[in-house]
Amino acid sequence: MLAAVVERYGPPEVVHVAERPDPVPGPGEMRVRVRTTSVGASDVAFRAGSPWFARLFTGLRRPRRPVLGTDFAGVVDAVCPGGAGAPGFAVGDRVHGVTGVASGTHAELVVVAGDGAVQHVPDGVDDVEAVAMLDGLLTALPFLRDVGGVRPGSRVLVNGASGAVGSAAVQLARWMGAEVTAVTSTPNVALVRALGAAHVIDYTAERFTDLPGPFDLVFDAVGRSSFRRCRRLLAARGVYATTVPSASVLLLMPITRVLGRRRAAIAFTGLRSDAAKRADLALLPQLHAEGAFAPVIDRVDGLADIVEAHRRAGTGRKVGTVVVAVDPRLAVDPRLAAGDLGLRRAGSADA
Ligand SMILES: NC(=O)c1ccc[n+]([C@@H]2O[C@H](COP(=O)([O-])OP(=O)(O)OC[C@H]3O[C@@H](n4cnc5c(N)ncnc54)[C@H](OP(=O)(O)O)[C@@H]3O)[C@@H](O)[C@H]2O)c1
Repeated sequence: MLAAVVERYGPPEVVHVAERPDPVPGPGEMRVRVRTTSVGASDVAFRAGSPWFARLFTGLRRPRRPVLGTDFAGVVDAVCPGGAGAPGFAVGDRVHGVTGVASGTHAELVVVAGDGAVQHVPDGVDDVEAVAMLDGLLTALPFLRDVGGVRPGSRVLVNGASGAVGSAAVQLARWMGAEVTAVTSTPNVALVRALGAAHVIDYTAERFTDLPGPFDLVFDAVGRSSFRRCRRLLAARGVYATTVPSASVLLLMPITRVLGRRRAAIAFTGLRSDAAKRADLALLPQLHAEGAFAPVIDRVDGLADIVEAHRRAGTGRKVGTVVVAVDPRLAVDPRLAAGDLGLRRAGSADA
């Protein structure tokens, strides 16, 4: 099979497409022919080996797992021979899911456990959407529900509302009955409003930290703020939650939990159990059918252009998800993809 391989830490150019042995499914596993995958912020960090502490997990001198990627959508291509396959799945089924720390989805084939974080693709969802929904849902939902305790009537502020996580957070918070204030820059104001934000703050014109509040949850989906700067925005039992670890939030989380009425929090949603992720994936058919959640797609690159996909994801300016079409029939001109998919998303939300 072909795979995007990273044998040393470095800039996007260290990624190259190479032949690798086809993986073989074991008992309880299935092999998926990957149609689409994505390049996200964690792939960028694991390729660059930065921040340094990421190397404690990925390998000190060089990447321990040279094929990156955690998200996939594709078709079951083989199950373990001898009747020990993956219950509930058969060859030819359309599936999507995440491999987590095992990575390996930037490849034509990936082996996943049948009881892993995988499910059938909901009806009416195409291969690009099927992969682009994963990171946003599996990150934003636990932050909103489990960390923030969002419920109907909650006042939620989402900073970084145009990223994969933030754009999912705006839609999901609204679905949960919250009143959403979204923070983004001028080019993304219309998109974020179309996603369902009641109020949009353009951070190039005003500072969201000057807002009167109060908010039950300030969700900093891009980790560009801090508990100290957001504290005065929080309601009496409000939570400041960030996706990006810092010494300050790691220190403040246990302290504010014991002492403060207003809390600082971080979660590592990728480290949740497969069962927890699978339960959240199971919400997607309902969310899709209700029109409550659709992924925002930045661009679609072919596997041969994965260096470009890393470059774009590494800018910190992607709008939604950078998708990689491993199946060459799905690869389209990135400039067309960005325009077309952006309009399609905003149009469908307005409808
Ligand atoms: N803790 C966890 O378990 C977990 C899980 C998944 C992801 N993450 C982390 O979550 C973060 C977000 O990931 P992502 O994929 O959504 O997006 P991303 O690539 O990190 O961010 C892209 C978006 O951020 C916006 N942005 C950049 N600077 C901003 C600022 N100062 N204020 C407001 N918005 C700003 C950009 O919009 P503009 O161009 O309009 O500014 C862009 O649309 C990453 O750092 C990732 O590592 C953590």
